[in-house]
Amino acid sequence: MLITSLLRVAGGLACATLVAGDGATIFDALSNVHSETKELQSKVENWNGDLLGAVPIATQSEYVLSSINDATDTAKDSQPLTAKEALDIASAVTTLATSVNGTMTAIINAYDDFKHLYIASIVLSNLETQKSASSEMSNAIIEKVPTPLQAIARKLAAPVDASFDQAIDVFSSSN
Ligand SMILES: *[C@@H]1O[C@H](CO)[C@@H](O)[C@H](O)[C@H]1NC(C)=O
Repeated sequence: MLITSLLRVAGGLACATLVAGDGATIFDALSNVHSETKELQSKVENWNGDLLGAVPIATQSEYVLSSINDATDTAKDSQPLTAKEALDIASAVTTLATSVNGTMTAIINAYDDFKHLYIASIVLSNLETQKSASSEMSNAIIEKVPTPLQAIARKLAAPVDASFDQAIDVFSSSN
């Protein structure tokens, strides 16, 4: 009996360190996606259109993807969120939607440069990968939001998908 209880406590502690996901960690993970996205925007906006300058853009694009995947893992490992946590996360999602909009706008504006270097199809495939990773992230987060708030959460996340779609449309037109 004692052993069982001890094992249960130990198991609980092990889970606590392994899981460690809650509203605050999801919030931090989303803030990280936001900063990596802003960084991508600035790299694209400052790009002079040459091939060498495209390398840091590609690297930053990988960072964005891995930050999205990190946020997905964090959300999947998280406890269900309280309403208060869900509200904080709602504001982080809204902020992220703004930076994704800015970054997709910058990428759309640079379309001619990417096309000129014959790398528009690479950008397209990155955008598609990021969009699907981002949907997976939204779904993982929404799943942890209290049920009555899930419809709103979906509405807040929708502009992110819409921004990706705009960029994907533009880059698809060349193929
Ligand atoms: C960015 O947001 C503006 C204002 O809502 C919208 O008109 C525009 O289509 C969006 N652009 C992208 C790429 O999401």
